[in-house]
Amino acid sequence: MVKNITNDIRKTFINYFQKQDHVIVPASSLVPKNDPTLMFTNSGMVQFKNYFTGAEKPPFPRAATVQKSVRAGGKHNDLDNVGYTRRHHTFFEMLGNFSFGDYFKEKAIYYAWELLTKEIGLDKSKLCVTVYHTDEEARTLWKKIAGLKDEDIIPIATKDNFWQMGDTGPCGPCSEIFYDHGEQYWGGRPGTPEEDGDRFIEIWNLVFDQYEDLPDGSRIETPKKSIDTGSGLERVSAILHGTNDNYGIEIFTQLIEGAASIAGVEPYGDHKTSLRVIADHLRSTSFLLADGVLPSNEGRGYVLRRIMRRAMRHAHLIGCQDPLMHKLVPSLVETMGEAYPNS
Ligand code: ALA
Repeated sequence: MVKNITNDIRKTFINYFQKQDHVIVPASSLVPKNDPTLMFTNSGMVQFKNYFTGAEKPPFPRAATVQKSVRAGGKHNDLDNVGYTRRHHTFFEMLGNFSFGDYFKEKAIYYAWELLTKEIGLDKSKLCVTVYHTDEEARTLWKKIAGLKDEDIIPIATKDNFWQMGDTGPCGPCSEIFYDHGEQYWGGRPGTPEEDGDRFIEIWNLVFDQYEDLPDGSRIETPKKSIDTGSGLERVSAILHGTNDNYGIEIFTQLIEGAASIAGVEPYGDHKTSLRVIADHLRSTSFLLADGVLPSNEGRGYVLRRIMRRAMRHAHLIGCQDPLMHKLVPSLVETMGEAYPNS
């Protein structure tokens, strides 16, 4: 089997946080338990929501997860962008460490920096960060811990640096770490008009949770300050694959090339967009089905049906007359089965 860099990153992440006394918690289902406010698990913190708000007492003070996540339908919805960009997905994996009233900003920044620069080995000179514009404490900590220069700590006043799980639930200001893929790509630093380009890519979001949004629209302070972080596994893996394109990592190239070969088309030619859609939607479809969602006319089932239909339409566009998706499942199992033996 070819070397699986993405598997190695998962392991490096888990080993690192185990060493830092975090309980490694298995990924939760894509269907949030007892939570009608959310369509799907959209990030690592969802299974811990009640620990952040104080509604339940956490059984451990710190945890880390590799969380399968879906952003289609609901507040975070990327469905229509998938295929047209290098980094939108309906299904992705989020690496996250969490503190439930235990450590706060300083350790969160320290861990993220140490893991990225020492364990994973990213080049420090390619990293810059954002902070919420009023968060002087985070700015000072980034200087102290990472030795970043003033110009590499960018204040942002918009909701990009204030994370909310959904319309209600835990939230707080955040600090994001960006990787500069180099001037061969168009794009500017966060906060500039060109920030949506492909050059500077956000790879880790550190949320300093201290509020909860309530159904009546008010925002209250939570009993304890907590940490929720999320790093897009596919984005970090892309860097180690030497590309800024998430679809260039082995999990995707195997599916893209598999689909292209069945359809008899070029994998990276005119049908690039459709092949990306197929690879992405195969992942969300397979994992949603494994978590018990079935296509239907409403709610979660309807979103799944839309994803499946979109994939099938693109299979048709690349010339497949017969069903394609099921033929790619063995390849998905080969690349992701080790990390998700029960899915
Ligand atoms: N929950 C935060 C996010 O999804 C870390 O970005």
